[in-house]
Amino acid sequence: MANDPNDSAHDPSGVVAQFESDAVGVEDLAALEELRNNYLGRKRGVITALFQSLRELEGDAKRDAGAAANRARQTISGRLDEIDASLQSVARASREQAEAVDVTLPGLSDPLGGMHPITQTLHEIQNVFVSMGYEVVDGPEVETDWYNFGALNFPEDHPARDEQDTMMLAGDLLLRTHTSPVQIRYMEQHQPPLAIIVPGRVFRRDTPDATHNPMFVQCEGLVVDTDITMADLKGTLDHFAKALFGPETRTRFRPGYFPFTEPSGEVDATCPACHGEGCRVCKGSGWVELLGCGMVHPALFENVGYDPTKVQGFAFGMGVDRIAAVRYGLRDIRAYYENDLRFLRQFTS
Ligand code: PHE
Repeated sequence: MANDPNDSAHDPSGVVAQFESDAVGVEDLAALEELRNNYLGRKRGVITALFQSLRELEGDAKRDAGAAANRARQTISGRLDEIDASLQSVARASREQAEAVDVTLPGLSDPLGGMHPITQTLHEIQNVFVSMGYEVVDGPEVETDWYNFGALNFPEDHPARDEQDTMMLAGDLLLRTHTSPVQIRYMEQHQPPLAIIVPGRVFRRDTPDATHNPMFVQCEGLVVDTDITMADLKGTLDHFAKALFGPETRTRFRPGYFPFTEPSGEVDATCPACHGEGCRVCKGSGWVELLGCGMVHPALFENVGYDPTKVQGFAFGMGVDRIAAVRYGLRDIRAYYENDLRFLRQFTS
């Protein structure tokens, strides 16, 4: 019996066949490891047992069975390597599929914003004055009656103080109706010479219509020194109009009234759309209103502790919404505040 070549312990081909049938159920690397141990393991491996059983044989039988056992071992170890490679590649393929990125999908993009048309216009206005050496200054939107009116030389009974125009808050606080209070705040903190512009939001109790909105944007200007004249005011504002609307632009100065300037004026510029011919933008007149201005009233200098016999100054204030409307030929300024992207996208470059 020990020499029976059909004894399964001595039958390498039976071992290989058994191995193949055991291998069918192997579906992962752990099971493969177990299979490898079952056949090639040093202690209880089937192949190891096969080699041990050779000790009982002799002569040619031993040599033939040894050669067959070696072939079986090589076959099995080759098959184990093959199965290992194929399990590895299945694992890699499923990992790749799980991590796959479909490069043909449309990308996720963060939509790029753009600057609001009023902000763009304000930046252009600021650039003109900053290039002339003006400093850009900020001030509070909630003001006291003193800064918004009193210090600016508004008489007690001036109609602009009427609650019709001003949005009142608790006590003597209010929402500033113009950027002029920053003139006072800045002069209190600084000595002349000074040249500032003050962009900012202002508030008035207006019913919204094509040319009014209860919140709008102004840009104030103030220059104070010891030798400032009306010529400086006119030259500066004429340069500003040309820088903003083009070198062919002309300006005209009309008398006006503001409590905080004396004399006061209104400045018009030739319409940038028709260059003075008359069109829809300027309502046929050839001129567009640019701003209000004047020489700083001496009462303001007294209110901030300057000597009105030694310093003079000029000031101006413009509605940025309206300048932007002229620039873009916009008929209804309410469009600025409706946040309709179809409108706003037209201004992105
Ligand atoms: N504050 C004025 C207004 O809101 C504009 C202005 C500013 C006029 C400075 C003259 C000087 O209408």
